[in-house]
Amino acid sequence: MPIRFGVLGHPVAHSLSPQMQEAAFAHEKISARYGRFEIPPDELRDALRLMGELGFGGANLTVPHKVAALDLVESTDANARRAGAVNTVIFDNGKSRGFNTDGTGFSRAIAEEFDRGLRDLQVLVLGAGGAARAIAAQCLEDGVSHLAVWNRTAARALEMRAQLLGYYETAPIEIIESTPDALSASVARADLIINATSVGLRSDDPPLISRAAFTNRHFVYDTIYRPSRTRLLEEAAAAGAATANGLSMLLHQGAAAFTLWTSRPAPLDVMRDALRRAASA
Ligand code: ATR
Repeated sequence: MPIRFGVLGHPVAHSLSPQMQEAAFAHEKISARYGRFEIPPDELRDALRLMGELGFGGANLTVPHKVAALDLVESTDANARRAGAVNTVIFDNGKSRGFNTDGTGFSRAIAEEFDRGLRDLQVLVLGAGGAARAIAAQCLEDGVSHLAVWNRTAARALEMRAQLLGYYETAPIEIIESTPDALSASVARADLIINATSVGLRSDDPPLISRAAFTNRHFVYDTIYRPSRTRLLEEAAAAGAATANGLSMLLHQGAAAFTLWTSRPAPLDVMRDALRRAASA
């Protein structure tokens, strides 16, 4: 029987992970199937337990399960603990081990898209959910000079800051007030701006940052990849900023997950081609 894998989300129908991972397994001649599983939050615990019992090889977690999964797996690696979120699980004789590849995936995506590392950048992260946490932790790991976090619900941003300070005691983390003026001032100071909220998933979502705030020295990364260009990216690009969407982060987090499951280097070009095909379908 093929080794079974899957992504658990709510909603999950639009996940492109199956196309990307099945292309990688086929290329490596590994007999495996990777499915999508629509799992509401109150079923996540049972779903993970059942997958272990049924002999699944591993899983990915997406919205809204990444933070909750931290307490539902039997062990976690340092990346998952630092981010406070799990996006990849290995089932090992029925036992679940949690990892987080979003941070390293993000770091590789920035290097690939903008041809530079995170070190010494002034970074502004929008959001305080699972994706934002992994990105923020990676920014500190890679030595950004300043990390500003803006979130609609300020309390969640403060909670994220407290968690990160547990790992990076002297980290330069600033929480931006949830007002438009405070956000614009913070955009003016930033080199790299990352949207890790779900704003922009719908094409009529008004962007969180006003068009006038962008300049041609900004780098703007949107973790959203469908639509392929959110209004945030369009407006930033119109101001001359360098922009990129979240397909590269999806690719690199998926490649790192593939390596965790198989102990093999991921066939990156095969996975990238499969993703591009699926994203434009
Ligand atoms: P993920 O795991 O993908 O990060 P999540 O944990 O549900 O998903 O986080 C979604 C993020 O998008 C949060 O930062 C959320 O802000 P709140 O903490 O205030 O809920 C943000 N978000 C969702 N809808 C938003 C909106 N209409 N305006 C601003 N932020 C929004």
